[in-house]
Parts: sequence; structure tokens; C-alpha cells
Amino acid sequence: MQEVTLPSGNSMPVIGLGTWRLGEYPERFGHEVDLIRSALDLGITLLDTAEMYGEGGAEEVIGEAIRGRRDGLFLVSKFYPHNASRKGVREACERSLRRMDCDTIDLYLLHWPGSMPLAQTFEALRELQEQGKIRDFGVSNFNLSDLQDIPETDQSRLGCNQVYYNLAHREVEWEVSGWCRERGIPVMAYSPLDQAGALLGSPVVAGIAEKHSATAAQVALAWLLHQPDTVAIPKSARLERIRENLDAANLELDAADLAVLDEAFPPPKQAVRLGMR
Ligand SMILES: NC(=O)c1ccc[n+]([C@@H]2O[C@H](COP(=O)([O-])OP(=O)(O)OC[C@H]3O[C@@H](n4cnc5c(N)ncnc54)[C@H](OP(=O)(O)O)[C@@H]3O)[C@@H](O)[C@H]2O)c1
Repeated sequence: MQEVTLPSGNSMPVIGLGTWRLGEYPERFGHEVDLIRSALDLGITLLDTAEMYGEGGAEEVIGEAIRGRRDGLFLVSKFYPHNASRKGVREACERSLRRMDCDTIDLYLLHWPGSMPLAQTFEALRELQEQGKIRDFGVSNFNLSDLQDIPETDQSRLGCNQVYYNLAHREVEWEVSGWCRERGIPVMAYSPLDQAGALLGSPVVAGIAEKHSATAAQVALAWLLHQPDTVAIPKSARLERIRENLDAANLELDAADLAVLDEAFPPPKQAVRLGMR
């Protein structure tokens, strides 16, 4: 699997597995643990989660699924903005580590901008990094003005900005992805399939998929991976789709495909803020 490099020098794979909506129902716990284990067997190494998902339930599913096989995995988790105080971040991190039953989170993100002073948040994140409890830190759903509010020394150390990004939602390209690229900060695309909405039914995407004997989801993911320093974290509860999504890393779109997609799904032509899911 191809990888992108974070400003710290650490690297992460370009395709991972999202876990939103996991851990919400205790009766599904065993099934969800099996799903994650099978996904790891297929070659998934990056798992994206958050304290919000199932109010800790998704992290517990991950904790059980990765028991005895933590090595080689890249764990991403996120904390609530209301936990972004110096003390709040430390405590939230301890809870996430406990639920995932591991010693370190590879990339720990502020889930969306809130009202806590960012100087406090980043002081706590640096402290957690020095203690080895997290390897990298970053943000999610940050527009340019939010990024500029981050203490300057921390701006260029961000491990990623995780944003709503797919062919049908290219808002990040207006100003955020350029800002990140200048600093070597990866963009992590969430809802990369636009939650299996109209994007996957698009005749334009279907045409390119047919040309490459691929699926619409694979075209949508391959297009994202064509963007510099971009990682995609599709979520599926079906193993055959997780395999299909992983295989998208092997699909090479050509210049003609990219031009057709650009015409059907143009980048923003005026100032626009990031979408959010
Ligand atoms: N930072 C944030 O604020 C934020 C917000 C939203 C999401 N996220 C993260 O990003 C992850 C992914 O985003 P998402 O779950 O919103 O949306 P997504 O990955 O774009 O789409 C998920 C939907 O697509 C379907 N699907 C998956 N693979 C498919 C395929 N190959 N063909 C057809 N349908 C397919 C899934 O159904 P099945 O499960 O039935 O296959 C599910 O309904 C989340 O799980 C979460 O980890 C972060």
C-alpha cells in the first residue's frame, strides 16, 4: 500500500477504514469485532475512529479487534471540542487509550473547531506526544481561518486535516488543501464515497469505471488518491466492499479520465467553506 509522509517523518497508508456508526449497539459488538479483524486480514492497517462514535463504543470494538496485533497498525482517533481544554484533552486521550487497550494513538485529532483556546489544546497535545501517548496530532473540519488560529509553531506540525472531501464536494480545494500542501500536511478525506449517495450512481463515474473494469466506488477513491498527499477512509460494514475499496489503490486514472471527471465535478470557482457531515 502506498503511503504519505507526515511532517514528523512518520507515514500512513493512503486507504484506511472508517468506523462511524460502529459500537452503537451492544448486540452487534461481536460481529463488528469480527468485521474489523477480517478487514485487518485483508490488509487494512489504518483505522479511523473517534470518542464520539458510539460514545466510545467504536473504540472498544477496535480495542477488542486489535488485541495481540497492534504492531503495524495506524490508529486515528478524535476528541470532542468540548474536551479541548488542557485537562480535557489529557483525560479524553487516557479514556481512548483505555478503550482501545493500547499505549499510543498514531494520530489524534480535534474533531471540529470549538470555543476552547487552541493554545491550551496544543500544549496538551505536545505534552501527550512527549509522553509517547500519541505519535502525531492534527485537526478535522478546519477551514483556513481555523488553521490560522492554531499557534504558529504547531501549524506546520499538524499530522493532517481530516475533511469532507470527495468528487462531489471539492470545497477543500479552494484554499485549505493548498495551505496544507505548502506545509507538507496530508489531507484525510472523510465520506470519500459521499456516503454512497448520488456520486456512486453518476453515469460519468460509471463510464470510467466500465473502461477500467472497476467499480464506481473505486473510481471515486482512485480520484482522491490522485490528489497530492491525500488519504481516504471509506467505511463499509461489508467485507467484499472493504476489499474493493482497498483495491482502488491499484487503479490508475489517466489524463482523459481526470479531465472528464473535472468537467462533471468541477472544483470551486469562488470562496466556499468546507462542508461537514
Ligand atoms: N471527521 C469527521 O467529522 C467525519 C465525518 C464523517 C465521517 N468521518 C469518518 O470517515 C469515515 C467514512 O465516511 P462515511 O462513513 O461518512 O462515508 P463513506 O465512507 O463515504 O460512505 C459509507 C457508505 O458507503 C457504502 N459503501 C462503502 N463502500 C462501498 C462500495 N465499495 N460500494 C458501494 N457502497 C459502498 C457504505 O455501505 P455499507 O457499510 O453497507 O457497505 C456506507 O453506506 C467514517 O466512517 C468516519 O470514520 C469523519
